[in-house]
Amino acid sequence: MERANSDASQLELRKHLFYETSHSPSLADLVGYEEAKDTIDFCFISNPYYPTPEMLDDLKENLPNLLKSYPSSNPMVSQKHLAAVLNLKPENLILGNGATELIVAINTMLIDRIAVPIPTFGEYIEKLRQQRDAELYVLKAEENYQLVLSEYLAWVRTRGLKSLLVINPGNPTGQLFPLEEMIDFLQRAKDMELVIVDESFIDFAGDPVPSLLPVAGRFSNLLLVRSMSKHCGVPGLRLGYCYSENLYVLNRIRRFIPTWNVNSVAQYFLSLLAGTDAAYHESRKRLISDVRWLYNSLRAIPGIEAYPTGANFVLFKIKSGKTAAELQGLLLKEHRMYVRDCSNKIGMDKYHIRVASQGRAKDGRLVEALGVLLQ
Ligand SMILES: Cc1ncc(COP(=O)(O)O)c(C=O)c1O
Repeated sequence: MERANSDASQLELRKHLFYETSHSPSLADLVGYEEAKDTIDFCFISNPYYPTPEMLDDLKENLPNLLKSYPSSNPMVSQKHLAAVLNLKPENLILGNGATELIVAINTMLIDRIAVPIPTFGEYIEKLRQQRDAELYVLKAEENYQLVLSEYLAWVRTRGLKSLLVINPGNPTGQLFPLEEMIDFLQRAKDMELVIVDESFIDFAGDPVPSLLPVAGRFSNLLLVRSMSKHCGVPGLRLGYCYSENLYVLNRIRRFIPTWNVNSVAQYFLSLLAGTDAAYHESRKRLISDVRWLYNSLRAIPGIEAYPTGANFVLFKIKSGKTAAELQGLLLKEHRMYVRDCSNKIGMDKYHIRVASQGRAKDGRLVEALGVLLQ
C-alpha cells in the first residue's frame, strides 16, 4: 500500500530517531525549581485523585523502614497483590520498574522487526537495538494521525512483518479502539508472532474498563503492556507490568529483568491496592468526567481542533497559524502553564499540543487562557 513513507522520508525519520529524544524537557529543567512551583504542568500525565491522602500518610509512616530494607526478591509476592485487583493469574504477570523497563526488555529480548505506527510514545522506537528493528507506519496529518487497524494490518503483511504494536488509547493522539474492535483485530492478526498492545491509558477509557486483560487467554501472540504511572498516579514509584498467556514470551522477558527491579516503596504500594480499590475506581471515574469537560471546552475554542480521546489527555491542532512552540511559549510566559509541544515527536507536524487533565479547576484556567490567546 502507498503510504507517506517514501524511502527518503523513512531515511530522514531514522536519522532523526537517533539524534533526538522525543520526551519534552521537564518543567524544572526549563524554568528552574522555584518558578516550576508556580506553574501548572499540563505535560504531566497522571491521575491527580489517587493515591488517597490516607495511602500517602501510610507510605510516609512506613518510609523509614522501607528505605532501610531490600525489596522482596520473590516477585510473586507483588504479582499476587496486583493480580488480586485485576482478577488475573499472578504467574502470567511481570512487574517492571515502570513500563519503560519492560519495553526495553521486550525490544531487546523479543523483537527482530516490528511495525510501529508513528507518532508514538518514544520509548518504543528510541530503545530498539538497531534502526532496522522498527518499521515505521506513518500516520497522516491530514487524517488527524488516526490509525485504521485494517489498513495497518494489511501494510504489516505487505512488509512481511510478524510483530506489531498498537497503543490503545494512543499516545499522543488519545485515539481509542473499542474492545470489540480490538478483539476483532486480534482474531485477524492470529498469524502474527507477536502483537503488543500497550494499554497504559485504558483505565481512562470508560466504565467498565475496556481492557483486553480478561480475554488475553484467547490470544497466544498477545502481550499486554501497562504503565501504572498514569492511572495510579505514581510516576515516581516506577511501576508497570506486562501480561500474556504465552509463557515462552514471558520467560524471555524475565531473563532480562534484574532481581529487586521493583523497589520496596513500590512493593509496599502494591500491597495497598486491594484495600483501596473502591477509592481507585472513584478517582478514575472522576478524572474521566474531568477529561470529558476539558475536551468539550477545547472543542468550543475557535482556532483549534481537539481530537476525541479515550485517555486522560487531549491532543489538539492549532489552526490559527501559530505554531505549537509559539503557543507553548505564550502560555508559559503569560499564564504560567506548561503544555506539551508535540513537534519533536517523530512523524508529527509543528501544530499539535497535548494537554493532560490536572483536574477541573486547573483545566478551567487552561481553557480560559487558550480562549484569550487564540481569539
Ligand atoms: C503509551 C505509554 N506506554 C508506556 C509508558 C511508560 O510509562 P512508565 O515507564 O512511567 O510506566 C508511557 C509513558 O508516558 C506511555 O505513554
